[in-house]
Amino acid sequence: MTDKPNAVVITGGLGYVGQSLAAVLQDQGANPVLIDNRGVASQVLGVPVIRGSVADGAIWRQLADSYHIQTIYHCAGLIVVSESVHDPARYFSENVCASLAMLNHVRAIGSVPIVFSSSAAVYGNPQTTPIPEDAVKAPISPYGMSKWEFEQMLAAFEVAYGQPWVALRYFNVAGAVKGVREQHEPETHLLPLVKAALRQGQQPQIFGTDYPTPDGTAIRDYIHMADLVDVHVRAADYLTHGGASRAFNVGSGRGHSVQEVMEGFERVSGRSVNAQRLPRRAGDPPVLVADIAQAQEYLGFDPKHSQDIDEMIRDIWQDGV
Ligand SMILES: NC(=O)c1ccc[n+]([C@@H]2O[C@H](COP(=O)([O-])OP(=O)(O)OC[C@H]3O[C@@H](n4cnc5c(N)ncnc54)[C@H](O)[C@@H]3O)[C@@H](O)[C@H]2O)c1
Repeated sequence: MTDKPNAVVITGGLGYVGQSLAAVLQDQGANPVLIDNRGVASQVLGVPVIRGSVADGAIWRQLADSYHIQTIYHCAGLIVVSESVHDPARYFSENVCASLAMLNHVRAIGSVPIVFSSSAAVYGNPQTTPIPEDAVKAPISPYGMSKWEFEQMLAAFEVAYGQPWVALRYFNVAGAVKGVREQHEPETHLLPLVKAALRQGQQPQIFGTDYPTPDGTAIRDYIHMADLVDVHVRAADYLTHGGASRAFNVGSGRGHSVQEVMEGFERVSGRSVNAQRLPRRAGDPPVLVADIAQAQEYLGFDPKHSQDIDEMIRDIWQDGV
């Protein structure tokens, strides 16, 4: 018997996904503890923050001494695809080596279930759309490779050491819960970039207007943060109830073109969006849309907040900054 309190650990807990998850889990009565290697905050939202890398064994021993850890949400990582092309050493070091070190520390404290923030980037330029989980994994950036490598490590640890895991392959995350804003440095995601351009009186940019899509602009699948957080909780429950370790796509299951996003900003902001039409960027596939049938079947996933792109745009437009 132990009198240690229960806790869920969120790595990368000061980030966009980690903080949103912490806020909702706390509301649901869970006891989140955050690990992050940036900032000096010792608390966010009243939740304890441990400053340091996921690779630091002392942190995991301290956590295991203090808590009964129920689930680890592994959201920590570097996330800028273009940066990973120019600095693969840093990306493999943080996203693969640090995560592998974490896996070994977790093994030492008893193979707690892990829900991992993976990415649609594992598919590279997919041959089919919508993309099922068993589509070929052919990542085209070190970022995508790092996500796929860590998924494979999880699978090997499960076979050898019984490490339970779910990888959630996020498509494009947008919107906000509990007032936690999307704020990356540098920012590369479409919605915050369009908002920033409009607020500064500049023209938002569209890269590629000659794709084989109905309006010529690239199509992406946007998932609202409320649905993303919900599917994390579902994935943890699934593992707790003995679900088999595996990966799930998490998106809305439908696509919106860049042009449609611009039109959404016009509706939400009441401003005219006079976007600059630029050539395609290397490595941007025309269409990335998730097949979410598996997450619907096994996790009961229902991305109800992700059906209306205007809801996600409104969240970001109205946050006032
Ligand atoms: N935001 C998206 O659209 C999106 C899409 C696909 C996948 N993902 C994945 O989801 C996760 C979270 O994304 P986000 O948007 O919240 O990113 P974010 O940059 O806001 O948060 C990531 C956090 O991880 C921390 N971190 C990085 N390396 C660390 C380490 N070694 N130890 C401790 N902390 C570390 C950073 O300081 C940061 O606070 C990432 O793994 C990302 O690859 C995000």
